[in-house]
Amino acid sequence: MLQIAKEGTSCYLPNLVAVVTSQYEGEENMMAASWYSQVSAHPLRFGVAISKERYTYSLVKQSGAFAINFLPYSHSHWIKISGTISKRDQDKLTSQSIDLISGEKTGVPILAQSFLAYECRVHQMIPCGDHDWFVGDIITTYWQPDCFNEYGSVNLNHLHYPLHLGGFHFLNLKQVNQLKSD
Ligand SMILES: Cc1cc2nc3c(=O)[nH]c(=O)nc-3n(C[C@H](O)[C@H](O)[C@H](O)COP(=O)(O)O)c2cc1C
Repeated sequence: MLQIAKEGTSCYLPNLVAVVTSQYEGEENMMAASWYSQVSAHPLRFGVAISKERYTYSLVKQSGAFAINFLPYSHSHWIKISGTISKRDQDKLTSQSIDLISGEKTGVPILAQSFLAYECRVHQMIPCGDHDWFVGDIITTYWQPDCFNEYGSVNLNHLHYPLHLGGFHFLNLKQVNQLKSD
């Protein structure tokens, strides 16, 4: 039965966690982000909530650019690392020997193992509370075409899609798909 929850209750719905990459004056970083959305189709724009406490926050604010990367299930451990360690304590990108591509318009690092990545230039910053909402113009899209079907939906026959269940648990959507058809 639907009930009123205690004030302040916040629930976690399984989603695909993004990795926000950034760089400023040669310093590069990555951070996990669950709070994101495409916010416009014409022009193409994408928003992500970044807390002022994140090292990423100052890099994005100073450079005016960021990238949104989506990784396959096989690289879920990078999502965990990027969301639990701050660059203040460890250089996550070099400690994991992550292959990077330099974003063609802004130089922001793109994770080469992503199945989809958006290079964005900051259009607007909206204060929201303990996070600011960064809206970026998507200026370049990178993808692995095999991971998508002709309608632009993910191709689960090819892509292992990591749904984050909370904590360090990820569901491999490919397996669910296989179980259903068995
Ligand atoms: C699954 C997951 C989702 C997260 N989502 C966000 C988010 O949307 N926005 C945010 O500011 N921090 C988010 N975080 C926290 C940051 O990823 C984390 O504090 C990170 O260590 C910051 O790195 P940095 O200080 O190097 O930028 C998330 C963490 C996890 C594990």
